[in-house]
Amino acid sequence: MSAVVTGAGSGIGAAVARLLASRGTPVAVLDVDAGAAERTAAALGPAPATAHAVDVSDSAALESALDDAAEALGPVDALANVAGVLRTGGVAELTDADWDFCLATNATGVMHACRAVARRWRAAPPPGGGAIVTVASNAAGVPRVGMTAYAASKAAALAVTRCTGLELAAHGVRANIVCPGSTDTPMLSGMDLAADPSALVAGTPGSFKLGIPLGRVADPDDIAETVAFLLSDAARHVTLQTLYVDGGASLGP
Ligand SMILES: NC(=O)c1ccc[n+]([C@@H]2O[C@H](COP(=O)([O-])OP(=O)(O)OC[C@H]3O[C@@H](n4cnc5c(N)ncnc54)[C@H](O)[C@@H]3O)[C@@H](O)[C@H]2O)c1
Repeated sequence: MSAVVTGAGSGIGAAVARLLASRGTPVAVLDVDAGAAERTAAALGPAPATAHAVDVSDSAALESALDDAAEALGPVDALANVAGVLRTGGVAELTDADWDFCLATNATGVMHACRAVARRWRAAPPPGGGAIVTVASNAAGVPRVGMTAYAASKAAALAVTRCTGLELAAHGVRANIVCPGSTDTPMLSGMDLAADPSALVAGTPGSFKLGIPLGRVADPDDIAETVAFLLSDAARHVTLQTLYVDGGASLGP
């Protein structure tokens, strides 16, 4: 059996791929950045890994990557939807292009991947049950200044994942969502806020953003551990759940 991790070329996705492979799961590394996918896959072990240059918003490419992964690594029984993009800006300034870009990757991409495994797992349920984890964001449940497109796309990803899990529960499939808060990855370093990590921890009242009660920005491995747990048999009776892994930043909604 094998796992597909989208967005595994960088940050949280790469950490998920590393953790799964270190525990013996063959991993298909999917990323729109071909070089990043190759670099992640080449560093994985001891389980085998493959790299696939795929834009998750391209459903045909995603379908064919899943077939290639299954052929190379064995039937896919785990999907981690981690690929994501961020566009910030106030709602009044939001461009159609930024809205479309966020929705295409973060929401439609998750739908494409959930649909692809749903078709396969409905026809041939994995022996131990299939598992999906979607990495959304705490912005999916908490309003954020300057994040309309991103938050909306993550809320949609969350709904797609829960509906998929409900429809496939009878086939033994579980689907859960992990909502990270600020996590030390290239995505975070691209934000203005990241220039001052102490402000992330302390909060920025001017933008109605609480700080992080646990007092630190997350490491990608903090998120990966939770994703790996939810994909594993240790979580065999957990489905349709949304787990915030944000050091308490959203006060546990
Ligand atoms: N870093 C944070 O603070 C934070 C907080 C909350 C949620 N998240 C979410 O966690 C996930 C991982 O983010 P990260 O912080 O590791 O970011 P990152 O930018 O380090 O990694 C994202 C990866 O996704 C890939 N990607 C982007 N668009 C893609 C597409 N269309 N198809 C395939 N791959 C694509 C990128 O090439 C990159 O390798 C994202 O969904 C993000 O929204 C991150």
